Amino acid sequence: MYKIAIFVSGNGSNLVAIKNKIDDGTIEAEIVAVVSNKPECNAVIFAKNVSVPVYLVDCCKSEDISIDYKQLAEILLKEGISLIVLAGYLRKIPGNFINLFSNRIINIHPALLPSFGGKGMYGMNVHRAVFDSSVQISGPTVHFVDEVYDNGRIIAQKVVDISDVKSAEEIKDRVLDVEHVLLPEVVKKFSEGKVKIQGNRVYLD
Ligand code: GRF
Repeated sequence: MYKIAIFVSGNGSNLVAIKNKIDDGTIEAEIVAVVSNKPECNAVIFAKNVSVPVYLVDCCKSEDISIDYKQLAEILLKEGISLIVLAGYLRKIPGNFINLFSNRIINIHPALLPSFGGKGMYGMNVHRAVFDSSVQISGPTVHFVDEVYDNGRIIAQKVVDISDVKSAEEIKDRVLDVEHVLLPEVVKKFSEGKVKIQGNRVYLD
């Protein structure tokens, strides 16, 4: 079975979207780990409720509860993880961890990269910046993770018309709905071995 780890820090709606597509048989994979720096976030509560093992990393000031990235890497390698999905994970991941899982870590960003990305561009900061600009479209981007925020090769994007929105909140809601479609689609492609990298471009068969 194709094994996935999902990293979260917030509500976990993308985690739920992936889990739903696994449960209904659309994606043949298993979520073997949820990783978080926020022990009490909704995503962690959900994972516990559905009996997915939760690993807390880089948090909590207690080694009893929290592990470091080296220990986490050992666990994930031992589990035979094929894909790590950052779904609202708000910590920067160390370079040596990224190198261990080269081309196997993806992130979902709630805007059309390479615009509206980079340090500090997360959550509502992104949608406010989009709203305050004059752009008429937004939408989620799924990309590989490298050592620079929101910089890795783009895997997939979907465009959302925001020409009539009245608030940043409205953009967030529209984009999030589309994230819940896009991210499971990309995870499915990975699980089927249909993601091909050629030079700087990524193709989904
Ligand atoms: C999403 O908007 C995602 O694009 C961003 O963080 C948010 C996570 O939402 N990286 P959720 O925790 O999956 O509900």
